[in-house]
Amino acid sequence: MNATPSTPIPSPSRERFALAVAAAVSLASLAGMGALGIAVGWSQRQIAVDFANVQPVAWLDSGAVSRGREAFATTCTACHNEDGKGRPGLGRDLTNSAFVRAATDDRLARMIADGRAADDPLNITKVAMPPRGGNDTLSEADLRDVVMFVRALQEPARVARGVSLVARPAAPTEAEIAAAAEMALAAAGGDEELAEYIASGTKLYASSCIACHGAAGVGMKGNGKALVNNEFIQGLDDDGLLAFIKRGRDPSDPRNTTGVGMPSKGGNPALSDDDILDIVCYLRTLQPDKPVATTGK
Ligand code: HEC
Ligand code: HEC
Repeated sequence: MNATPSTPIPSPSRERFALAVAAAVSLASLAGMGALGIAVGWSQRQIAVDFANVQPVAWLDSGAVSRGREAFATTCTACHNEDGKGRPGLGRDLTNSAFVRAATDDRLARMIADGRAADDPLNITKVAMPPRGGNDTLSEADLRDVVMFVRALQEPARVARGVSLVARPAAPTEAEIAAAAEMALAAAGGDEELAEYIASGTKLYASSCIACHGAAGVGMKGNGKALVNNEFIQGLDDDGLLAFIKRGRDPSDPRNTTGVGMPSKGGNPALSDDDILDIVCYLRTLQPDKPVATTGK
């Protein structure tokens, strides 16, 4: 548990003190004090005002912020970016969110746990946020830590020096890279060049598509469709898929069946055509008969 108060401490006592001094000053003038008295009153008031401006820092718990950053890195950055400012067409900017500012810690944790459906009245982007950001393994304790990290994004002045606020996903381990390369090579039937495309596509899928389409393309409720054994993919050649992924599919598109939008390039404008073709190579490995690249790169 984390005992640190996370919302700014209101300061009624300080305000009351300043008011009292101000009242004393007015009373003193009313009582016909001389110029000296007023000057003294003024300087007292000045001190009170300065005192009221000194904010005792209500530090956020560094441990909770750091743990929350790790969870945010793996689960939330796909849509909200590493700095929490959001990715276009995906998650909103959390650093200046009025909703975040106004919500209590409990309310915020509940919202993150429940996500926000596209038809929720609070939803202005018409893009759904999946419950727990799509990561069912986030525990209640994880959620509380994530809340602390989101608070930290909004109020960096309350974060101890040296605690990073950039949620960079951990680089894959050597073992993970080796395992992915081996899988890609198997999927490519031993073709090393294709294996390279697949390995690159797997990585790009993990950063740009997984948040909505789930690990290994299994899909995600309320978000992207399953891409595994998918007829739409099987019905298009590589150029057709490239064009589709570049365009996306708006909720207003008559072919859209979910009412949720597929953002252009999955919301990542930095993806080049070659990157997307690598992802296409990866998507081919998710189809049952694994037909490999139909048009060459
Ligand atoms: C698949 C994309 C996606 C993922 C992953 C995701 N979010 Fe969101 N999130 C969204 C979208 C889209 C919205 C805005 C919906 C709307 O327009 O109200 C949102 C809204 C929010 C809001 C409310 C912001 C506001 O101003 O109303 C919070 C807080 C939030 N997300 C936190 C998180 C956290 C924390 C995680 C990780 C545990 C996370 N999100 C993961 C897509 C995502
Ligand atoms: C913000 C969530 C989101 C992201 C990120 C995203 N998609 Fe989608 N995608 C969707 C949704 C929602 C649909 C289904 C729209 C509909 O109802 O037709 C979809 C549909 C698709 C389809 C068509 C499937 C079909 O059966 O019609 C393909 C292919 C696809 N996405 C590939 C990708 C790839 C590749 C990426 C990464 C570059 C990606 N998507 C990123 C939400 C997303």
